[in-house]
Amino acid sequence: MATRHFLTLLDLTPDELDKVIQRAIELKAMRARGEVYEPMKSRVLGMIFEKSSTRTRVSFEAGMSQFGGSAIFLSPRDTQLGRGEPIEDSARVISRMLDIIMVRTFDHGQLERFAEYSQVPVINALTDDYHPCQLLADIQTYVEHRGSIRGKTVAWIGDGNNMCNSYINAARQFGFELRIACPEGFEPDAGLMAANADRVQLLRSPQEAVSGAHLVVTDVWASMGQEEEQAARMQAFAGFQVSPALMNGAAEDALFMHCLPAHRGEEISEDMLEDSRSVVFDEAENRLHAQKALMEFLLFGHR
Ligand code: CP
Ligand code: NVA
Repeated sequence: MATRHFLTLLDLTPDELDKVIQRAIELKAMRARGEVYEPMKSRVLGMIFEKSSTRTRVSFEAGMSQFGGSAIFLSPRDTQLGRGEPIEDSARVISRMLDIIMVRTFDHGQLERFAEYSQVPVINALTDDYHPCQLLADIQTYVEHRGSIRGKTVAWIGDGNNMCNSYINAARQFGFELRIACPEGFEPDAGLMAANADRVQLLRSPQEAVSGAHLVVTDVWASMGQEEEQAARMQAFAGFQVSPALMNGAAEDALFMHCLPAHRGEEISEDMLEDSRSVVFDEAENRLHAQKALMEFLLFGHR
């Protein structure tokens, strides 16, 4: 079987994605029952992090341990990657020793190069352009709380960033309508928008975007690597804060999600995470279950 990678949501078919979500729900139930399931004994996951992380690191490492395998944390600060060893060489060396690799980096092109030279599955653990693992957890969370997301309306409020781009891919793969409200100059990838014009709409008003929506999602205004733009972005995004009042315009059973970390007083009001419509901590937990299902799929196919 050819090596399968997960660099964006488009690397799996809609049917494969649905099965991964169902499997994530099953793995979560197995863990809750205390069932020991160790299909990855003696398998090793490599975790390359060029950016900070709490959820991604903990969920991948814990997931691999629960599966009976182990994980190696690789930081550019103490590997030769940080001293300029070419990606092509690093990928070939590392992938000869490990079974599966996740990479969090800046340039999506570098991740694609790494995958091209890797002989084992490579997972995108966030690049400047995409964050597909987060979408697996988000969809799992929606399905657990409300059932299928097919045919529903999702509102993305704020920056047209890596998460927003992944929501556009998710709209395609999971079959929902996506309304994006962002300030001028902060739109998501234009090619992605054009390719999905039948299901994705760009708006300037958060109120209009959330109107009747079943799921409202936001993310930080300045992503990792954009720290020096923070002040300018605070000004540009004023008026794009998600609050319980904004949520009141959404559908009665609407949910709120945020991949975290969140900045209270910026993209969300002080009280948004504690609102009864917020499922952000279920969403964060589901990173564990969804990525276990993903790793199992990439290594063994469907179970
Ligand atoms: N949501 C997310 O990816 O969080 P971390 O940056 O903490 O991994
Ligand atoms: N858009 C954010 C997501 C963090 C999980 C970032 O890239 O920093």
